[in-house]
Amino acid sequence: MSLQRMLKLLYALVLCVSANEDFDWTKNERGSFYYGTFPTGFSWGAGGSAYQTEGAWDKDGKGMSIWDVFAHKKGKIFLNDTADHSCEGYYKFKDDITLMKDMKFNHYRFSISWPRIFPNGIKADHINEKGIKYYDDLINMLLDNNITPIVTLYHWDLPQVLHEKYGGWQNASMVNYFNDFANLCFERFGDRVKYWITFNNPWSSAVEGYETGEHAPGLKLKGTGAYKAAHHIIKAHAKVWHTYDTQWRSKQKGLVGISLLADWGEPVDITNQRDIEAAERYVQFYMGWFATPIFNGDYPQVMKDYIGRKSAQQGLGTSRLPVFSSQEKSYIKGTCDFLGIGHFTTRYITQKNYPSGRGNSYFTDRDLVELVDPRWPDPGSEWLYSVPWGFRRLLNFVKTQYGNPMIYVTENGVSEKVQRCTDLCDEWRMQYFKDYINEMLKALKDGVNVKGYTAWSLLDKFEWDEGFSERFGLFYVDFLNKNKPRYPKASVQYYKRIISSNGFPNQREVESWRRKATETCSSSNQLLAADPLTSHMEMVTEIVVPTVCTLCILLAAVFLMFLLRGRF
Ligand code: NOJ
Repeated sequence: MSLQRMLKLLYALVLCVSANEDFDWTKNERGSFYYGTFPTGFSWGAGGSAYQTEGAWDKDGKGMSIWDVFAHKKGKIFLNDTADHSCEGYYKFKDDITLMKDMKFNHYRFSISWPRIFPNGIKADHINEKGIKYYDDLINMLLDNNITPIVTLYHWDLPQVLHEKYGGWQNASMVNYFNDFANLCFERFGDRVKYWITFNNPWSSAVEGYETGEHAPGLKLKGTGAYKAAHHIIKAHAKVWHTYDTQWRSKQKGLVGISLLADWGEPVDITNQRDIEAAERYVQFYMGWFATPIFNGDYPQVMKDYIGRKSAQQGLGTSRLPVFSSQEKSYIKGTCDFLGIGHFTTRYITQKNYPSGRGNSYFTDRDLVELVDPRWPDPGSEWLYSVPWGFRRLLNFVKTQYGNPMIYVTENGVSEKVQRCTDLCDEWRMQYFKDYINEMLKALKDGVNVKGYTAWSLLDKFEWDEGFSERFGLFYVDFLNKNKPRYPKASVQYYKRIISSNGFPNQREVESWRRKATETCSSSNQLLAADPLTSHMEMVTEIVVPTVCTLCILLAAVFLMFLLRGRF
């Protein structure tokens, strides 16, 4: 070890000892486990979203969404999969609620498909009562089983018509159209739904939908598209919050929040000021982009500075980051009754200058590089490394930046790649849940105001551009079988124990959970191994038998013709 490195380490050590404010960022304790329980009333559940799980993409009057159209284009989704049928949640929601009941969920998070309610996106055109009935039934059955619905209004499935006519979130008219949709949902479901999430992970809608084009609608408007989409989304969120506040809150007494996704960004070198600032920038460009206007009234200063400077260097007269008027700022500020947080992973961040030029994008605007530690477990999705300690840091960041808001964790979980799909003994998922939930418990002890936790996801489902190749479910879904049967993975048992103990009571008990959970999954594994046979049998009866019969009849006819010809 060089002398310079030793000095840095020593400095880091000194920092560890001296920093002792709200949360001790440098006191790593990364390996230590905290035994303890959550406050009474802490809410446990799991989630999913309409396009990812419902199927029935063209049934009962539903209109097309940008995802229906995007997924049907060749080359957009892994193996050209679509969610046309997915888990058939539209037909199987009763079975799914039985699963939730058995796990003793307090809540279930799902989203309403806008084009299932307004097939053309617009209220004046047509309201689809069959779509309303589906959500009515779902909500009623959840409540009958004492499961609180947490309902997302926009989980990425914009009505296709609005994209074709107006350019979707590039256009300011979406603000009013979305508000009409939300207002109808409040009117029809708000007597029973008390937790509303306006947008799910708008970062993805903006960046992947309008900047990189990996997601629907697939536009690649580098350097401008994401900022414009986000600007309209933030305004739409605020408008919907005000609509609820002025028209429904006093009657319905519910809460309206937004769900933001964020990875944690840790400086590569905690003694290097440039890395510290780069890591902060990473989080500000991710979560702060949306959270700062909503809590504090405007975009993070660092975004305004960086994008403004780079735009000027490009020779542009104004910043590529749109500007809120002072009226808009005060209208947007404070429009959040609770903050939903989706969190999966962490990155190490270091500073890197990207020279300004023609090739500016959201990513180069940040002037940083993301790195990972190759020792971090990486069981499924390429981007998802298990780094539990990042979760506690992110939660503490939210607490200090936004005035300790009420938080619901709206997504947290881990996937497996398709090669391991028959493995119901998901050891790594149990470990992931155990460690991440434990970090959340530590954050709670730090004073973070977390009220609930949503495991992502209840079922294996359509994973956007990755198709069905990445499975996040607590329950395995056999997509090859047209009945889409669900099988519990071991993590179901594990999560069930966390829920029934409301945390981690003591070492002896917690250590027995993994063994007990894996005992059950090996027999389910055998069940599953037998299942492809059922799908095979279905194929034999539905395709092979009729085809062979038709061939036999044809052959017999030809043979008969020959015989008859010979005779005359
Ligand atoms: C966030 C998205 O909201 C969700 O739909 C997706 O399944 C997870 N990320 C995992 O990629």
